Amino acid sequence: MPANVVVGTQWGDEGKGKVVDFLARDADIVVRSQGGNNAGHTVAIGDEVFKLYHLPCGILHPEKTSIIGSGMAVNPLRLFEEIQELVARGFDCKNLIISYHTSLIMPYHMLLDELEENRRAAKDSRGIIGTTKRGIGPTFSDKMARTGPKVGDLRNPARFRERVRYACEEKNALIEHLYNAPPVDPDAISDQYLEVGDKLRKYIGDATRAVIDGLEDGKRVLFEGAQGTLLDIDYGLSYPFLTSSHPVSGGACLGTGLAPNRIDRIYGVVKAYISRVGEGIFPTELHDDLCVQIRNRGNEYGTATGRPRRVGWLDLVLLKYAADINGLTDIVLTKVDILDELPEINVCVAYKMNGKKVFKLPSDPDALENIEPVYETFPGWLLNTDELATGDMLPENLMEFLSFISKFVNVPITLLGVGTRRRQMVELG
Ligand code: IMP
Repeated sequence: MPANVVVGTQWGDEGKGKVVDFLARDADIVVRSQGGNNAGHTVAIGDEVFKLYHLPCGILHPEKTSIIGSGMAVNPLRLFEEIQELVARGFDCKNLIISYHTSLIMPYHMLLDELEENRRAAKDSRGIIGTTKRGIGPTFSDKMARTGPKVGDLRNPARFRERVRYACEEKNALIEHLYNAPPVDPDAISDQYLEVGDKLRKYIGDATRAVIDGLEDGKRVLFEGAQGTLLDIDYGLSYPFLTSSHPVSGGACLGTGLAPNRIDRIYGVVKAYISRVGEGIFPTELHDDLCVQIRNRGNEYGTATGRPRRVGWLDLVLLKYAADINGLTDIVLTKVDILDELPEINVCVAYKMNGKKVFKLPSDPDALENIEPVYETFPGWLLNTDELATGDMLPENLMEFLSFISKFVNVPITLLGVGTRRRQMVELG
């Protein structure tokens, strides 16, 4: 049975929440396998808007199993609040499984995330990463250092307390002596986490088996990517302005324990323009009135942090890179309606580097310091696309725009997002 993956192809905020919600109609199990509550996925159902941070969008389809995989990091206090809010809105969340192996975001991880950003700012403002301050980097660092507590530890109070005490010896040395801040209290942290751990206990389980056995039993699995390819810790653009996990398609396998040959389709979500939150290189960034117009029309403000997003033209050099890294089989082009009123639309098709045109992303990060985007300009479609229901209703200028993108990256565009609502999705042949 199929296992399909949805990945962001840009710097996150491509509209994955809505795409996953749409594709989840044909899935029995929906999995989040990387990142944490640095993500914020928005889904609109009728007049109701849901903002999900840890929970997979499948949670809005009560008959489906929702899985938080081992590759994720969760803040159990925030996760429990998220569950409670959904329960209050009529979703029972009883089909949720949180892997034993999922990393716990601890209060000292969030504190260290903030303190380190402040330290970078004081040293050299160009060094600020602009993190979401959710503790993501410090949590995944501790996982790699093999000192971070895991969700499964919440079921064993003695072991949990011991792990927290041990970790706090090191963290407090840093907090007090490097950052000159007051230390944290390991016992108070343990009390608070174990209390919420008891409430989450019924959800803790074998996520890996649920996915593998589910597939063997004929169930259909959908992986919900968070963040985007260009934020990947190894393959993103540009270190250190990245997140600390693997938002690429390979991350779906690593974050659940599923073999790569079990994956069928890989949907790359592409926004019709591009945005970035936080610092780092952005070749097609706009700085004029158009930036403000697109930002406001597209509501480009962080779901997790409320920060205004940087906005720019669609960059096909980066998209081709994302298609290669992820092995995309399908493109879902989202937020097409945001460009409805523009008389002309630019798309970056190459970079000018030292007087030469380059069509593929150079792997030397230093080479990106001095590039100039080369644009192809398309006439706008100047028509409201938010009521389009079928592919044969597309205006000609939009068809040309789509056909150019698809040919450039050699991947078919199979879905089009034309609004925030569940029904505003056009299936293309
Ligand atoms: P962190 O993931 O909080 O460590 O932040 C690292 C970088 O990734 C920052 O530039 C964040 O703005 C960015 N980032 C993290 N999560 C998301 C997301 O879900 N959407 C967009 N950007 C994100």
